[in-house]
Amino acid sequence: ISLRALNSFGVEASAARYAEFSDAEQLRAFFVRQRETGEPWYVLSGGNNVLFTRDYPGTILHPVARGVTRLSAGADKVLVRAEAGVEWDDFVAWAVGCGYGGVENLSLIPGYVGAAPVQNIGAYGAEVKDVIREVELYRPDLDRVEVLAGEACAFGYRDSVFKRELRGRAIILSVTFALDLNPVFRLGYGDLNAKVAEAGGPTLQRVRDAVVGIRRSKLPDPQELGNAGSFFKNPVVPREFALRLRERCPDMPFYDVDAERVKLAAGWLIDRAGWKGKREGCVGMHQRQALVLVNYGGASGSEVLALARRVQQEVRERFGVDIEMEVNVL
Ligand code: EPU
Repeated sequence: ISLRALNSFGVEASAARYAEFSDAEQLRAFFVRQRETGEPWYVLSGGNNVLFTRDYPGTILHPVARGVTRLSAGADKVLVRAEAGVEWDDFVAWAVGCGYGGVENLSLIPGYVGAAPVQNIGAYGAEVKDVIREVELYRPDLDRVEVLAGEACAFGYRDSVFKRELRGRAIILSVTFALDLNPVFRLGYGDLNAKVAEAGGPTLQRVRDAVVGIRRSKLPDPQELGNAGSFFKNPVVPREFALRLRERCPDMPFYDVDAERVKLAAGWLIDRAGWKGKREGCVGMHQRQALVLVNYGGASGSEVLALARRVQQEVRERFGVDIEMEVNVL
């Protein structure tokens, strides 16, 4: 099966087999056979954070369950369970429509609900970890379904237990969110506050619209131009180091992480290294957001990877900073 339409980079690759699943029973049946053959498997949901650099020799598992269920409501929280195959932004639109707060800042992030906890999706001052109550998953190695509380997911910046101890050992079935019945608005990021004020003051819908507007103005639509959002993570460095760098580059932005560490803006570093809008053959760094690597059409996974490595190297030479890839390279 061709994976071209199943990855937002739009690179050509194929997989030996492809299987959709909607529940643990179907996974169980798949893994009975898998345990005998030992064939590799990989869960591909929206395909928005993956780069195929060669054909995949095993089975691609794709979640298709799209249920959204209201479980219970208290005085100020409502618990909602969404299955892994729900399009993330459909879920956000639904929550905003119901008046449930907590995910509006995460509007228009491409991908599925089941992938959201894996890299702890975040944008405009919000991270999905703040609303995740629990994650239901299937463990192929133990052949059982487990439920992890949010606190047990070891969430960090673009990080979680699913990228570490449970990498390759868990398949997310559903995520339960605790959303706010009395929304608390987070408008501290960039010009979000100004945009929302311009629209008449904060409501969930206006925050969503403002975020959608900002994203559309900066980030390329993967339907039009192959990309996987931010290709690199923002590097977390010692504060001392950032302050020294700032002596050389007074306009360099950074954000507090804790007392000792700060987060640099990888987009700024790449921009200043001269890569913003720079194109080489079919690939390049986007002209409005240098952190986004784009496929102008016809690029192979290895071309994308080669460009990413050059950008990493030039940022290292210029600033002495290592920028780590955010995208999963297969
Ligand atoms: N900047 C530049 N030049 C650029 C890009 C950025 O100078 O080409 C500067 C900006 O002016 C700003 C700073 O860098 O001062 C940060 O830029 P921005 O606000 O666009 O956010 P980001 O740090 O580049 C992160 C997330 C995005 C998320 C935005 C908004 C990561 C890896 N990326 O980007 O997430 O939408 O913040 O919250 O943390 C994604 O993960 O795919 C993604 C798009």
